[in-house]
Amino acid sequence: MAKNERLDKVLANMGYGSRKDVKRYIKDGLVTVNGNTIIKSEYKVNPYEDVITINGEELRYREYIYLMMNKPMGLVSSTDDPFTRTVIDLLSEEYLNYKPFPVGRLDKDTEGLLLISNDGKLAHELLSPKKHVDKKYYAEIDGTVEEEHITIFKEGIVLDDGYKTLPAELEIIESGVFSKVNLIIREGKFHQIKRMFEALSMKVIYLKRIQMGTLILDETLSPGEYRELTDEEVDYLKER
Ligand code: URA
Repeated sequence: MAKNERLDKVLANMGYGSRKDVKRYIKDGLVTVNGNTIIKSEYKVNPYEDVITINGEELRYREYIYLMMNKPMGLVSSTDDPFTRTVIDLLSEEYLNYKPFPVGRLDKDTEGLLLISNDGKLAHELLSPKKHVDKKYYAEIDGTVEEEHITIFKEGIVLDDGYKTLPAELEIIESGVFSKVNLIIREGKFHQIKRMFEALSMKVIYLKRIQMGTLILDETLSPGEYRELTDEEVDYLKER
């Protein structure tokens, strides 16, 4: 946002209502700028420096939002889709003005950690294939995952299209006819984990992302719930 913007535009952009709503709040004397009540919508403010209150509540202008969602199954991780609900459809109105998008994709039937933001630079840092950001998943497998598979994953697995994956870190939680594992991968090829197990004649029956870089899924979030990242979580993500 520019340094000097109309007051109504700043308030509407921050999700305090439609342009029409915020014009009314301003006219009704509910908005102050640096301690003075302003009743003109076209009044110019610097959203980065001026202290603006609405109904006595001070607003903090921010350019970027960072949300952690526990993605539920059944939704696609894109901004819009002609046939299916998307993760963005779960967000409340106040966030939509920021034009958020999912940072990376999870399959429709995958659950777990999804970062949603409008910070293109951070998204690039996290998704660029050159950066090799670790992504940790919990998976339930139809098949017996055994100790020897740890080395096989570490050496890389050749997928159906001939691509050999980067070393992946497998941790076996339970081994049996059905197995439970954690797996860390450093890239994000299409259906990568499902295809890695398929290459070993096994099938992923449940998949949940639990970590991406330094960001760990907040297990208090039920599928479909989300929260803003703490300042610390944002800093760690940017520092990595
Ligand atoms: N690997 C998959 O197969 N699916 C996902 O959603 C993520 C990683």
